[in-house]
Amino acid sequence: MPLERLSTGVSELDRMLAGGIPRGFFVAVTGEPGTGKTILCIHFIAQGVKEGDRCIYVTTEESRDSIITQASQFGFDFSKAMEEKKLILVDALMGLEDPWSLRSLDVEELVNKVIEAKKALGYGRARLVVDSLSAFWLDKPAMARRYSYFVKKVLSKWDFTVLATSQYAITTSEAFGWGVEHIADGIIRFRRFVRGGVLKRYLLIEKMRQTPHSLHMHEIAILPGRGLVILRPVEMRKEDIALPRQVFEKVRRATEQKEVEVP
Ligand SMILES: Nc1ncnc2c1ncn2[C@@H]1O[C@H](COP(=O)(O)OP(=O)(O)O)[C@@H](O)[C@H]1O
Ligand SMILES: [Mg+2]
Repeated sequence: MPLERLSTGVSELDRMLAGGIPRGFFVAVTGEPGTGKTILCIHFIAQGVKEGDRCIYVTTEESRDSIITQASQFGFDFSKAMEEKKLILVDALMGLEDPWSLRSLDVEELVNKVIEAKKALGYGRARLVVDSLSAFWLDKPAMARRYSYFVKKVLSKWDFTVLATSQYAITTSEAFGWGVEHIADGIIRFRRFVRGGVLKRYLLIEKMRQTPHSLHMHEIAILPGRGLVILRPVEMRKEDIALPRQVFEKVRRATEQKEVEVP
């Protein structure tokens, strides 16, 4: 039986994915701040609303209103989708009185809230965005892998196809943002570079199980009224994209450390 694939909402990206993301997959969306992770998540949810999927968007980095406003700039009416009970926006910032607010950045609370939302939306194919999942272990980076595994395992029974964003942040002693990738069925990596004084953004599919996906890094753009568009594949030398040596060492040490702490 051919694999059922879900459109990401970005047609060129779907082509790079041989049709889309396989149903039920848990996909890590990684990259530095401002590279387009949230925008991709918005497309993915908007596409779900269009196709009649049950949609849940958990936002920890910005408010519910900010996501609604951002979506509206690309022509997606998330308020209407919420009124029509096609979408639930879970926010970690709204406070106690709101039923779809998380009281703390706790993975168990996250999972319970997502299941509650799925029950409220009803039976059927579902899409979930957690933006970001790495926010749930900000203060305990060594738990990244265990927590991501827990979230993946519990939610796998609920017919979700998941995008979980994760930021790379390197503090003085540790690197975190890793963890989601270790357990993910797919990894979509965003990057940014300054070329000739201009910020350029790129996207690379680093992994997608059961998929003959594109292996080319592509330059992307975020355009008013349209959102994320894939521009062209890029040719780059290794020196262009390698991490600075010091940073690389830091990441390597932190990863080794984690291997010791999390069996
Ligand atoms: N309406 C818009 N028109 C053009 N570009 C936009 C628009 N809204 C956001 N952007 C671009 O998207 C960037 C934010 O992308 P985002 O997906 O939120 O990043 P992150 O990877 O941190 O989630 C902004 O810095 C801006 O360059
Ligand atoms: Mg974001």
